[in-house]
Order: sequence, then structure tokens, then C-alpha cells
Amino acid sequence: AAVLGLTRGSVSAALDAAPGAGAPAAARSGFHNEPDTDPSMPANRAWGRRILARVESSRLGVDAITEAAVTDADQLDRLIASVAASGEAWGQLPGAERAAVLHRAGLALAANRDRLIEVMAAETGKTIAEADPEVSEAIDFAHYYAERAKGLDAVQGAIFVPSRLTVVTPPWNFPVAISAGGVLAALAAGSGVIVKPAKLAQRTGAVMVEALWEAGVPRELLALVDLADRALGTQLISHPAVDRVILTGAYETAQLFRGFREDLPLLAETSGKNAIIVTPSADLDLAAIDVIKSAFGHAGQKCSAASLVILVGSVAKSERFLRQLVDAATSLRVGRPADPTTQMGPIIEPAEGKLLHALTTLGAEESWLVEPERLDEEGKLWSPGIRTGVAPGSYFHLTEFFGPVLGVMHARNLAEAIRFQNAVDYGLTSGLHSLDPAELAEWLDTIEAGNLYVNRGITGAIVQRQPFGGWKRSAVGPGTKAGGPNYLFGLGSWVTNPGRN
Ligand code: SER
Repeated sequence: AAVLGLTRGSVSAALDAAPGAGAPAAARSGFHNEPDTDPSMPANRAWGRRILARVESSRLGVDAITEAAVTDADQLDRLIASVAASGEAWGQLPGAERAAVLHRAGLALAANRDRLIEVMAAETGKTIAEADPEVSEAIDFAHYYAERAKGLDAVQGAIFVPSRLTVVTPPWNFPVAISAGGVLAALAAGSGVIVKPAKLAQRTGAVMVEALWEAGVPRELLALVDLADRALGTQLISHPAVDRVILTGAYETAQLFRGFREDLPLLAETSGKNAIIVTPSADLDLAAIDVIKSAFGHAGQKCSAASLVILVGSVAKSERFLRQLVDAATSLRVGRPADPTTQMGPIIEPAEGKLLHALTTLGAEESWLVEPERLDEEGKLWSPGIRTGVAPGSYFHLTEFFGPVLGVMHARNLAEAIRFQNAVDYGLTSGLHSLDPAELAEWLDTIEAGNLYVNRGITGAIVQRQPFGGWKRSAVGPGTKAGGPNYLFGLGSWVTNPGRN
């Protein structure tokens, strides 16, 4: 969503001019989505090149992570008690006062866009094209949840009781947007927060948190931790003073957390195994682009990514469509994120286990349309792979892989294609490419996924427009969607009919 005429580097002034923390009036009212950087403007390209020049030697976030070290159980207990106490006071402020702080947080994230992109590229291998919209999404969360915070005071017939302490454990693959989303939602809902960034992206988490501190979110209210060992992680999740945990990660991790504490109020967005269905009525040129972008954006390392494309009827025999898929995949430039020509960066860690298997091994009836190649010594840089002949019920059909490999399935008709998608345990995103209203109605009625996309890609949900959350094993908890109108409601408890029995 680029807006012409907006150059980067001019937002700090807006932060300086905004009202201070606790000021009664919000810096802005209403909500609009933050525009991404427009790379067609020469000034923005120069800005981008300056960021990329710093990536290889970036040390952003290192000091904050050192300071965030928690090394023993007593230290963690004291931290939990103090953040919970600050959270209690914060939760008693009117929503509008919390909203003012959240709006400042949005401005601070905008002012730190270049630092956030730099540390993301350095730590996770994201290209600017992937990292820039992620910063926009984080900014959106700040302003959107600020507005929703005001609404919490005004629910009729019920009183919202904020949590005192929420623990946020974000993933490494959206280390700015999802980290900021969880932290800002909990703050908006009146809770203190302890955030534990994923180990693989903890410097990015730290730079994000520093931006919120800079905006006036008190350090006593928002604590960043780097836990020295697993025992401390267990202590944190199972601690009775923790009112809620927001987790984004594997389904198995959510089960693990539940094992630590059965009554734990958990809001988790978990795994996905998502398909785009393409029917003969589709605009096939458009479908090819959307499939490639959804499969290979951030090297396929999104829970929302397309891991399968299900070709219905004659589409499977369309040589033109298959050639377009192959050409598009093989033309992607794979390389280091610091190279401005890179379209697909490395995977986060050298491929091993399930992913290595998916990149190197075919099932009985499968063949490579495009065989992935390892392009570096380490095993982090892979060219994209497309396997065809993925059989219903096979390992590739049903298993989540976090990497640049797409599987093609064939279905006789739309009903069969929908059965293939619904056979997986997860239900996160799902796509349909079709220009036939009857097909669209059939798909909408029967597909089992939280986020549905028609005639477009299936990643990159936009705050407010596409609240994000899964179904089946893609979600654990109240089922409220991030970036949507109900998310904050799931972050506290409710007293109904106050004053009466
Ligand atoms: N919200 C992200 C997307 O839509 C995934 O977590 O791609």
C-alpha cells in the first residue's frame, strides 16, 4: 500500500510534536493503515541502500539483550512481582490515557523504521521488501489497539477487568510485527508485559521494545527478558502471577505450555499448512503470481505461506500455467539480504530435519517441477523448489514445512480440492482463485480456515482490514483475531451485571 510523495526520514519530528505520555488527548484520532515505503522514489531507494550497507556489521540490540539477561529464579520472581504491580496501576488508567501512550508508540516505531529493518535483515535474513511492510504492520497495531483501548471503558452491562501481567512469546519469523502486536495489545488492554523474544530474533525484539520505551512506555511496565535456560522459561509460563500468555509458534509449543500449567489462559496462533486452490475459471496469469509470492515470500517461512497449490480439473493440464509457475520460481533472485537485488533471502538456520527432508526427498508419486538447490556451504541459502504429484494423505500433503518448497496437487473438482485442504489438521489461511460466483460460494461454505483470500495472495494480513487468526490446530484460546475488533476482549476478564447477583 505505497503512497506517492512520502519520503522516509521525516517522521521523528512528528514524535517530538506529539503529546507526552499520559496526556489526555491522543496524537491522532481514528485509524488508517500506515503506508509502506515507496521504492519508486529515488530518495527512498537511497534510504534503503544506506540501511543495507549497515546490515552485515549491524550490532543493533546487542546491548539491550545483554541488559535483559535473567539468570536465576529469584531474579525472575522479583521481576514478575514488579511488572505485575505496575500492570495493576496501569490497568486502572482510563482507556484514553493508555491510548495516548500507544499512539506515541506507533510514532516511535515509525521513527525507528530504518533501525527495525536493519536489525531484521541482519538477524532473520529478510529483504527490505519483506521487512518494510512488517514495520507498517507494527505501527498499525499501535494506533489500532489505541483506538480499541478507548472502547474497553464503554461496554454496556459489563466491566472489563484488565490482566495484571501478560507474557508475550513471539516467533522469529515476524519479529517486529507479531512481537509488537502482542505487546501493544496487552498494554492497550491495561496489562503489564514481560516479552521474551525468540532466540533467533531477540535483537530485533529488543530494538522494537526500545522504541516503545522511547515513546514513554515505562520500563517497569514493559520488561524485556533473555532467559538463561529452559527452567526459567518453565518458571515464567507456569507462574501463578501470570494472568495470560500470548504465544505465536508451533502447535506443539502451545501443548507444552499447557503441560506446564493446565489452567493457563493462553492466546496462541499456531501452525499452518495452507493451500491455494486454482479452478479452470480463474485468471491463471494472476494466480501464478499470487502462488509464487505466497509460497516463496520470506523463503516460505510464514505460518500463512502457501505450501500447497491444488489445481482443479483442466488447470492441471495447462502447460502455460505450469510453465509460468516454473519460470517465476526459477527467475527469483536468491541471495544475501544486504544485496539490493535479492528477492528471496536465506532461511533462518541451516536446513535440517523435516525441512531438509522436504528440500531433498520426494514421495513415491512425486517429481520435481523445479528442484531446489543448496547455494551455500552452510545450508541456509536454497533456490525455490516445486514438487508435483503430491498424493492425498501423503507426508508432504499433511505436514507443515517452514521453507521454500511448494507442492502441487491435482483434484477432479472443487469439492475434492476443498476436501484435500480440510484434511490437514490446521486451518490458518486458505486461498481460492476462481471467477465463478458459484464456486466462491461453495468454497466459502465449506473451507476450514481462519483467514480466507479470494483472487489474491494468502500472506500479509492487514490490520483492521483482515483480522488474523486460525481455526482447528492453528489457534488455541478464545479465537479472537489479532488486528481485529475483538482481540482486546480476550486479554482480560469480564464482570457482567456489576453490582447485582
Ligand atoms: N500475519 C501474517 C500474515 O498474514 C502471518 O502471521 O502473513
